[in-house]
Amino acid sequence: MTVTVRPVASAVGAEVSGVDLRRLSEPEFVAILRAWTDHSMILLRGQQLGDDDLLAFSRRFGELDPPPNQERGRISPPGYPDIYVVSNVLDAKGDPIGALGAGEAVWHTDMSYLDWPPDASMLYSLEIPPSGGNTWFCGMQAACDALPADLRARIEGRRIKHDGTYNAGGYLRKGVTPTDDPMAAPGAWHPAILKHPANGRATLYLGRRRNSYVEGYSREESDAVLEALWAHATDRRFVYEHVWQLGDLVLWDNRSTMHRRDPFDGSARRIMHRTQIKGSGRPIAFAA
Ligand code: OGA
Ligand code: MN
Repeated sequence: MTVTVRPVASAVGAEVSGVDLRRLSEPEFVAILRAWTDHSMILLRGQQLGDDDLLAFSRRFGELDPPPNQERGRISPPGYPDIYVVSNVLDAKGDPIGALGAGEAVWHTDMSYLDWPPDASMLYSLEIPPSGGNTWFCGMQAACDALPADLRARIEGRRIKHDGTYNAGGYLRKGVTPTDDPMAAPGAWHPAILKHPANGRATLYLGRRRNSYVEGYSREESDAVLEALWAHATDRRFVYEHVWQLGDLVLWDNRSTMHRRDPFDGSARRIMHRTQIKGSGRPIAFAA
C-alpha cells in the first residue's frame, strides 16, 4: 500500500496521497478513515470524480444527509438529490446554480442547527477562480485543549444554542422568519464541549457566531463569553488555509472543525459539489 499521510498544519488537516478515489481498496479506505479521525480534515489532490464517484466514495462512510436548506432552498444537480452545489455561477435564467454566492462565508460548522448534525462534509472542486475563495479550517480539539482554564470553566457543563436562521454567507434560509433573537430563532441546543465518539477527545462546539447563545447567562454575559471563545478558537495557531486546485477533495469532521471561505471575484466561476454524511449519533457532552 502506498498511501501517505502528511499533516498540513499543526492543529488540523492532513494530505492523503497515493489513492485514486474511483478505485479504492478496503485497506486504502481504512487508511483514509484513520487519517480523517486523527486529523479532523483530509485533503486528496488530483482526483477525477463524477457525481456517481463522489456519491460512491461518500457512502463508504455511511448514510448521507440531504443538503442544507439554503437561500434558495436545496440546490442539487439534476438527478443527484444528495449532492449540494456551492457556486456563484448563474444558469440560463439568471438564477444561481448553487449556494453561498461569491462573498465571504463566515466561520461555521455545517448544519449544527439540527438536533442530529452530519458527522462530516466533503467538498470537491470542479471549477475554481484564479484567486480568492480559499477555504479555512480550524481544529476545535486543539482549540479546546488550549482553552484558558477560566474561559473553559465558564462553559463547562453548559449548552449553546445554534442558529438555523442564516447560513454562513449571511443569507436567510428559504422560508425562515428573520430574527436576531437567539431564543426566537429556529435551531438546536448542543453541549459547548463535546466528546468525540471516535477518539474520545474534547472538542469545542460553537457552530455559528450569529444568534448564538450560551445557556444560563444573560444575553450580554453570553455574548462576552462567545466573543472570547471565538477569538480563541479562530486564532491563527489552530488554522489551516486551503488554496484550491482543480480535482481537490476535502473531507472534514463537522464536530471537531469549523471552516470559512474567503470572498472571490463574482465575475469568475467557482463550482463545488458537496456531500454530507449523516451523524452516527447526537453530539454528546464531554464530562471532565
Ligand atoms: C460548505 C462551505 C465553503 C467553500 O460547502 O459547507 O462552507 O469553500 N463551503 O465553498
Ligand atoms: Mn460549510
